[in-house]
Amino acid sequence: MAIRNILKEHIPEENEILRKKSRKVEKIDRRIIRLIDDMRDTLIESGGVGLAAPQVGILRRVVLVDNGDEILELVNPEIIETEGEQQEIEGCLSVPGKWGITDRPYRVKVRALNRDGEVFEAEGVDLVARCFCHELDHLDGTLFIDKVVRFVSEDELEGDDDDE
Ligand code: NI
Repeated sequence: MAIRNILKEHIPEENEILRKKSRKVEKIDRRIIRLIDDMRDTLIESGGVGLAAPQVGILRRVVLVDNGDEILELVNPEIIETEGEQQEIEGCLSVPGKWGITDRPYRVKVRALNRDGEVFEAEGVDLVARCFCHELDHLDGTLFIDKVVRFVSEDELEGDDDDE
């Protein structure tokens, strides 16, 4: 296992990759398992809440989301249900130094494959719901800054450290 480099939006060559659409995983082979393991280490090391494969330069539909109890590993995830709305502050490991308020559903249910190729569903509210939306957006080359309603200064962040 290893820590992988997280691509940054302000570096043009890296932004180019972050803006691409990721491909579906057809087969969960050893490379995908290693990717998931490395992403897990990278996420823990970064202190973030979620991480998408394109953020480490791999254009495959794989995301990790820390729901507070465990780090969920989602392969080919899809949002299957949403409810309500929220306007909260979001940040991104690929967009250091920027935070902003986005419109997201309050509750989100996703369906994905786990590392054994089994279908499972997971649900989250509040921060976890935001994180599901944010990480799945990464798979289509969308960053939270595309959806920000209002950017928030570092001073306004005091006491808030949701880094997704
Ligand atoms: Ni992000």
